[in-house]
Amino acid sequence: MASFFLFVLFSLFFLCTHVSSADTISADFTLSGDQTISSSGGTFKMGFFQPATSSNFYIGMWYQQLPQQTIVWVANRDKPVSDKKTSLLKISNGNLVLLDGNNQTPVWSTGLNSSSAHDAVLQDDGNLVLRDDSGSLLWQSFDHPGDTWLPGAKIRYDKRTKKSQRLTSWTGVEDPSPGLFSLELDESTAYKILWNGSTQYWSSGPWNPQSKLFDSVPEMRLNYIFNYSFFSNATESYFTYSIYNKANISRLVMDVSGQIRQSSWLNNNNQRNLFWSQPRQQCLVYSYCGSFGICSSKSQPFCQCPRGFRPKSQKDWDLKDYSAGCVRKTELQCSRGVVNQFLPLTNVKLPDILEVWGITSFSICGSACLGNCSCMAYAHDESSNRCLMWTKDVFNLQQFEEDYSEGNTLYLRLSASDMPSSSTSGKSNKAVIFGAVLGSLGAIALVLLAVIIMLRYCRRKRMRGEKSDGTL
Ligand SMILES: *[C@@H]1O[C@H](CO)[C@@H](O)[C@H](O)[C@H]1NC(C)=O
Ligand SMILES: *[C@@H]1O[C@H](CO)[C@@H](O)[C@H](O)[C@H]1NC(C)=O
Ligand SMILES: *[C@@H]1O[C@H](CO)[C@@H](O)[C@H](O)[C@H]1NC(C)=O
Ligand SMILES: *[C@@H]1O[C@H](CO)[C@@H](O)[C@H](O)[C@H]1NC(C)=O
Ligand SMILES: *[C@@H]1O[C@H](CO)[C@@H](O)[C@H](O)[C@H]1NC(C)=O
Ligand SMILES: *[C@@H]1O[C@H](CO)[C@@H](O)[C@H](O)[C@H]1NC(C)=O
Repeated sequence: MASFFLFVLFSLFFLCTHVSSADTISADFTLSGDQTISSSGGTFKMGFFQPATSSNFYIGMWYQQLPQQTIVWVANRDKPVSDKKTSLLKISNGNLVLLDGNNQTPVWSTGLNSSSAHDAVLQDDGNLVLRDDSGSLLWQSFDHPGDTWLPGAKIRYDKRTKKSQRLTSWTGVEDPSPGLFSLELDESTAYKILWNGSTQYWSSGPWNPQSKLFDSVPEMRLNYIFNYSFFSNATESYFTYSIYNKANISRLVMDVSGQIRQSSWLNNNNQRNLFWSQPRQQCLVYSYCGSFGICSSKSQPFCQCPRGFRPKSQKDWDLKDYSAGCVRKTELQCSRGVVNQFLPLTNVKLPDILEVWGITSFSICGSACLGNCSCMAYAHDESSNRCLMWTKDVFNLQQFEEDYSEGNTLYLRLSASDMPSSSTSGKSNKAVIFGAVLGSLGAIALVLLAVIIMLRYCRRKRMRGEKSDGTL
């Protein structure tokens, strides 16, 4: 009886310590290789992951229930390790640190000075919390968001330092290092999306305390799964949201596409729904296609390189990272005897960093650009007779649709060897097509003629036959 009681006690004790270690990294429990920790409610998992075709490993956090690994947070975003078996995530010198491979060099750390961290707990809301001996909070992953805004997290604006926390996109679908697009809160209580930390291309509009919506996001009114709230006092402001029903999974991502996307997995069904995204049109994302890339909502993919250009990195381009843009197939040379020409791109939105050269005619504008080696492109504004020139790489080119007449023509400088010999090849193409059509028409006519002759022959033969029948 006593030994049975002891056995039960021991089992319970074992179970307890086992369960409590499953969501915690501590002095006795480190992460390496295929080991993972899981949050207490079973929502999130954390461990090493490897993007599909990449050879890199990262410490990340993902949903336990979803069939497709969906990463919500990455520790060592821009410092991957190459071998998960020899790498180690552990509590060391009062911090949570990731040690790399053979020489055990730290590649990532929570970076607290004079910290006395005791353990790190993965909570069921997806927050990784570093605690000291007494259990008080030292550091939390919610304060260091990656590209994902989980329910319960806050993206804060600090009124004293006038700085905001940021969501930052991945560089590419397989590269979690910080990309060019970010979401942050500003002084006016509006969230805005920036390109390269400075160029704003979308804003939520300020928070409206009456309607409890952001002014430029009226869709928020249609919501029935989220509980929104906005907080502001003398030192900080932030927006946060929660989900009424915990069974529904949802997250907001600063996507590699430069859009913010709220996606949900409702009713425990594993189908992902794109709930909402902004800006609505892909081509409204600033410089989505990088330098010299053209964004067109009609093309697939949205980004194309102009004639005479190719993707700067075909590998990134194939992985949907267009940010490096396009480069000339032939380097521009600008010396005596080398011919440069201009490729007209019609009905485009003009790139916005430009120099106004002066008020002059179209042809003078063109020859001025041709005569200045630093002139990459020009356009002539007919209404004001102004000559516009671009002396740096051009960004944010958008192709308008055919029925939209507000576009301009941009003339891009190209080496003559890259110019499409448009007029002649066009003519010869037409000639070939014309010839082909003529040829096939001729063939059809010949066949028809043959058929007619055959029919006539047959009829005559038949008539003769009938006659002979009659005579018989
Ligand atoms: C830690 O201390 C170093 C130098 O003493 C300082 O540069 C750094 O900003 C400190 N870091 C934090 C998180 O306080
Ligand atoms: C982004 O901005 C930095 C300076 O803040 C600049 O050095 C870098 O070239 C910019 N990137 C692009 C793609 O323009
Ligand atoms: C909505 O969120 C606020 C603040 O986070 C909270 O006080 C409130 O109880 C929540 N409402 C519901 C219905 O969950
Ligand atoms: C503002 O709220 C935060 C908690 O969200 C608190 O830490 C801070 O002390 C508050 N500031 C003021 C001036 O009340
Ligand atoms: C959320 O989950 C609950 C329970 O699974 C379900 O009844 C509800 O329809 C789901 N969807 C929304 C939008 O709340
Ligand atoms: C070329 O254009 C740039 C920018 O407008 C200007 O600074 C430079 O002086 C020009 N060079 C010549 C040779 O005109």
